[in-house]
Amino acid sequence: MSDQKLNLAVLISGGGSNLQALIDACADPAYPAQISVVISNRPEAYGLERARAASIPAICIDHKDYQGRAAFEDALQAELKKHPVDLICLAGFMRILTADFINHWPNQIINTHPALLPKFGGEGMYGEHVHAAVLAAGERESGASIHYVIPEVDQGPLILQGAVPVEPGDTVETLAKRVLAEEHRLYPAAVAQIANERQKQA
Ligand code: GRF
Repeated sequence: MSDQKLNLAVLISGGGSNLQALIDACADPAYPAQISVVISNRPEAYGLERARAASIPAICIDHKDYQGRAAFEDALQAELKKHPVDLICLAGFMRILTADFINHWPNQIINTHPALLPKFGGEGMYGEHVHAAVLAAGERESGASIHYVIPEVDQGPLILQGAVPVEPGDTVETLAKRVLAEEHRLYPAAVAQIANERQKQA
């Protein structure tokens, strides 16, 4: 950790609204973390624009340019090594990472999932599929989970969770919007919690 702030690498694939929540949190000089680099696997991710607007290095490593998962991850690792990184934050990053990659960063990769894990998680449970499953199951509440990343998808230790009500008449869209707002609150809080814990240990 440089000058007491936790250095973040944020990985995205799309709009980057969770990235924006982290950018906004880091704008407070008292916030215990800073973003060193933003990396997207998709060139058209609007989150890259959000990073550039905040003068944060914004890199695209397009997975379609690489033959296979390992080659893509080698390029990802090479880029990460160019920056101070204490914690990798997956924020709408839609690639499954291999155990090799994850094990290179023990307890240093976190993710946001738009449901109350361990329910409604795992392979194939992402984006709208999650909210559709919650509605189909007749759940009275849903929410967001910030968790450490381990090779088993969405099964890593939970860091923070926040519940939101499922309202009568909710659609996938209305529930997704409510859960996303909770993610935007939870993600910066989870990063601050980790940063403060590590500062105590340092
Ligand atoms: C979030 O709901 C996240 O949980 C899921 O994809 C969405 C990303 O949104 N993985 P954004 O790119 O951060 O706006």
